[in-house]
Amino acid sequence: MKKGMVMAMDRNRLIGREGGLPWKIPADMRHFRQVTAGCPLVVGRRTYEDDIGRPLPGRETIVVSRDPNWRADGVHAATSLSAAFTLAPTLMPSAHTVQVIGGAVLCREAVDDIDVLHLTVIDAEFDGDTWFDSFDWQDWRTESVRTLEPGEDTQWSLTFYTLVRAGAPSSE
Ligand SMILES: NC(=O)c1ccc[n+]([C@@H]2O[C@H](COP(=O)([O-])OP(=O)(O)OC[C@H]3O[C@@H](n4cnc5c(N)ncnc54)[C@H](OP(=O)(O)O)[C@@H]3O)[C@@H](O)[C@H]2O)c1
Repeated sequence: MKKGMVMAMDRNRLIGREGGLPWKIPADMRHFRQVTAGCPLVVGRRTYEDDIGRPLPGRETIVVSRDPNWRADGVHAATSLSAAFTLAPTLMPSAHTVQVIGGAVLCREAVDDIDVLHLTVIDAEFDGDTWFDSFDWQDWRTESVRTLEPGEDTQWSLTFYTLVRAGAPSSE
């Protein structure tokens, strides 16, 4: 099973504010649903509790927390990233990819393990407190890119990148 990551950031690599997203962008929510459909998800405990807050339909969610007693209805718990990666294929054996969906703390450990990064760049600057600080453009090569201009479902221009590791063969 491949390892993917799905993130959205602004021009300054900002990803969060006060436990939630700094923006509300239906077009990016739809993109997230499309990329993660049918995949197991791995998420940090803070993002799950403060932002997502419920199991996402059609996907199995693994919440990573160092607290071995952490539990929530409808989701699975793991005490390490490697335990989450081991659990993922047992939950959805036919899925092609396990998707790490944030936040910043979890991604600091996960980013070096990831094969494919689905990154949305929002052409705007927001206020917030959490950044995708483990991301470096130099580590990645663009496999595909699509821009969505402001319109009905987004107030700002969005660029959807599919990135693979610099030096990795094309996945197509
Ligand atoms: N823009 C986006 O695409 C996007 C995506 C996701 C999240 N976000 C935003 O990011 C913010 C939250 O991110 P965050 O960085 O504060 O927190 P986070 O990464 O979601 O969660 C951190 C917590 O996860 C657990 N954890 C992380 N790495 C672990 C590891 N290797 N082993 C065991 N447990 C581990 C720990 O839980 P315990 O403390 O329980 O041990 C840690 O305190 C929110 O504002 C959210 O909305 C944005």
